[in-house]
Amino acid sequence: PAVSEISIAGRDLAKANRVASAIGEKANGVQAEATDEKQVARLVAGYDLFINTSGPDYKVQIPVVKAAIRAGINYCDVSCDGPAAEKVLKLNAKAREAGMTAVIGIGWAPGIDNLMMTHAVSQLDKAESVHACLVWPLTDLVKGDTKQVAENLRGNAQYSASWETGMRCFSGECKIYRNGKWMIVNPFESRVNVSHSKLGTIEAYPACGAEAVTLPRHLRGVKDVSVLLSFYPPQMNELARQLAIQIKAGKMTTKEAALSFIETAGSDRERWLSTTKELPSVWPYLVIAQGVKNGHMVRYTLDANTEWLTTDGPLYTAGMMLLMDRIKEHGIYPPEACLDPIPFLEEVAANEPGWTKEKRLFEEKLERLE
Ligand SMILES: NC(=O)c1ccc[n+]([C@@H]2O[C@H](COP(=O)([O-])OP(=O)(O)OC[C@H]3O[C@@H](n4cnc5c(N)ncnc54)[C@H](OP(=O)(O)O)[C@@H]3O)[C@@H](O)[C@H]2O)c1
Repeated sequence: PAVSEISIAGRDLAKANRVASAIGEKANGVQAEATDEKQVARLVAGYDLFINTSGPDYKVQIPVVKAAIRAGINYCDVSCDGPAAEKVLKLNAKAREAGMTAVIGIGWAPGIDNLMMTHAVSQLDKAESVHACLVWPLTDLVKGDTKQVAENLRGNAQYSASWETGMRCFSGECKIYRNGKWMIVNPFESRVNVSHSKLGTIEAYPACGAEAVTLPRHLRGVKDVSVLLSFYPPQMNELARQLAIQIKAGKMTTKEAALSFIETAGSDRERWLSTTKELPSVWPYLVIAQGVKNGHMVRYTLDANTEWLTTDGPLYTAGMMLLMDRIKEHGIYPPEACLDPIPFLEEVAANEPGWTKEKRLFEEKLERLE
């Protein structure tokens, strides 16, 4: 569509102005505090689309979605937090009443993973479980200067919200779907070994992401749903475990824990940051479904081609769909409730520079288990 105006909103007006001037003359910067629902609602009223990328999302998603509903404007975000997503879903009736559509968690994880998990389930005659496993390679720490990374986090320069979300998703009461019921688990008491083609067997832990909250409502009959996360190098999971205990006991905030994670690793690189295998250059990503196909118990694995996996690609694609009125229903939607997995993922990949149709979105493996 022809765009007449883009506003870049941030707490720091100078920063927002810098981003706006890099975009061009149709863009302008405005000051906004994401947790101030009324202010944000006044600001976004009259626009065609509101995209939220601020975080950590456990602090900002709820007031921001409420502001979008109050203003009656279509909305999308990349928010990860399971407990926040659960509260946001409860705003569905209000969103419908306001005649607006919100597509929540449409990044990579959540986002692409919800759709890959939905696709994997659809490939079995009867799926019993589906899990996504994301490996977070700590490249900035292993190859970079941990002091600089900590400095950036202190100054909120970049990714500070992602670090905080990463710490929080191991520290809280993690909701997963097991044996057909939601239950709260301690991630570090629920370790899963995942076989990875490039990394060998890795230990992964349930993360309290939005996927396990939203997907079971859509994938009826699937009894186990979770998203697993593992830091790489693997010994950093132990450091995350120690910090999770501190956060849970109220002795540290998520930001203090993220700083300690980075600084402790930097203070003893040999212990925390040494690796025997090559550090993955991209974030390895698997979806594994188990169930029955053609009368046999099978495991179906999707190993994503990481060339097209990004956080902004699906957000952009969903945003364009909202602008072009291609998502017509009103209400609050996680990706799996409003997007057709393969056509959407193909559109995301096609928007990636350098992508060609011959490339595959993922490799598939079907193994018989008996
Ligand atoms: N779904 C996915 O695949 C995915 C992937 C990556 C990240 N995420 C999520 O996306 C969010 C952002 O991550 P990131 O790595 O981009 O973090 P980031 O670099 O720290 O960016 C967060 C931004 O939010 C702004 N912000 C924070 N609190 C605010 C408030 N109260 N009002 C207005 N603005 C506020 C910050 O502004 P200041 O400059 O003023 O600090 C900063 O610009 C996180 O919550 C993360 O969990 C999702």
